[in-house]
Amino acid sequence: MGSTQVGIVRDLAKYPPQDPSAKKDLYNAAWELLYSTESAQDTAQRLYHGHVPLAMAQTGIDLNLFNILAEQQDKEWTLEQLAEKTKAEPALLYRILRCLNAYGMVTQTKDNTFTSSNITKNLALPSTHAGIKHYSLTMTPAYNAIPKYLAKTGYKNPTDSAPFNLAYNTDMPVFEWRKHNPENAKAGQAFMAAQRIGQRSNWDGRVPVSDLQLSEKDVADGRVMFCDVGGGMGHQCLDLRKYHPELKGKMVTEDLLLAQDMIPNREEMKKLDIEPIPHDFMKEQPIKNAKVYYLRNVIHNWNDEPSKVILSSVRKAMADDSVVIIDDVLMPTIGATWKQASMDMAMMTMLAAMERTKEHFEKLLAESGLKLREVHTYDEEYGDSLIVAVPA
Ligand SMILES: C[S@@+](CC[C@H](N)C(=O)[O-])C[C@H]1O[C@@H](n2cnc3c(N)ncnc32)[C@H](O)[C@@H]1O
Repeated sequence: MGSTQVGIVRDLAKYPPQDPSAKKDLYNAAWELLYSTESAQDTAQRLYHGHVPLAMAQTGIDLNLFNILAEQQDKEWTLEQLAEKTKAEPALLYRILRCLNAYGMVTQTKDNTFTSSNITKNLALPSTHAGIKHYSLTMTPAYNAIPKYLAKTGYKNPTDSAPFNLAYNTDMPVFEWRKHNPENAKAGQAFMAAQRIGQRSNWDGRVPVSDLQLSEKDVADGRVMFCDVGGGMGHQCLDLRKYHPELKGKMVTEDLLLAQDMIPNREEMKKLDIEPIPHDFMKEQPIKNAKVYYLRNVIHNWNDEPSKVILSSVRKAMADDSVVIIDDVLMPTIGATWKQASMDMAMMTMLAAMERTKEHFEKLLAESGLKLREVHTYDEEYGDSLIVAVPA
């Protein structure tokens, strides 16, 4: 019986379903299987060595190993060939490759021969490189400080400082600290830019845009249709124009001057009636009566008090028919996935911030003079949602 079950699991591992949703279901079920069969020793060993895969992935990237292997998918490389390519000492390279094989990141075919695995190609992507660099360089020391920080601060939700501050022995908030730590800043920026590469736009038909429709009079009066608060480089405005060219009216993207200095395509934006306006969202909102105020991945960067400052300033600028759309993860009250819960921990660790449930958003909105009207979840896996609010 046991061996039949093992055979089924092994067959599934060898020939997984090709349909993306069936594949995802199997992936999630495999995690459940792993936990339900784990012995005490397995649990201990898994946690003790939790840092090893990330460190080895970073080492493999530094040696360009994954790209070498992924470029010729089925080629079997001898240790000597890989040592020549990477310039690593063969004895060390063998240990690295043995470990990468043990974690599924490459495949060892014979004693001294290696080829790519299903995961190698994922580790050859520039977006994965950016994330691994940011997490191994900056995030890991901050995560390590969590237990000490929480004990020191009496197990209260962090508000004024975060484990990051203890880890790096600084009073500065992370974005300020980055100005003095260019390697971390570069890795952080690259990660932010790479994070959404390949992801579908949320404006591609999965969410209604009826709130963005202006009357002819509004258009004639020059009313702002879409004000992207903390909009970074204005990419959401560009996406919205691309997927909904029928929407009439001006768009504004607001961010700190520092962030807007990096906007690469101002001319294109101008042609599309998108105006970048430098603005600190902790201060009075300069764009009054916009039809929609939009905040993507902004509120989850802040805990409740600063979030209320941001939302209240938007509220004061709103007309009766204006709408606020918060684009953030909506955390489930039960069964948050490890990806969702880890993102919440990342927010706490670096920014003393958090991901929120619907109930939490309702309270936050109410305390900012707003009320939740509806929620559109457009990515079930992560819980990415548009949280639509109107004046209370
Ligand atoms: C996680 S990013 C999200 C950017 C964009 N909304 C997106 O979804 O890609 C947070 C943004 O908030 C901006 N930001 C931070 N503090 C700010 C402030 N006080 N006023 C305006 N923007 C700010 C940052 O520069 C950054 O672009």
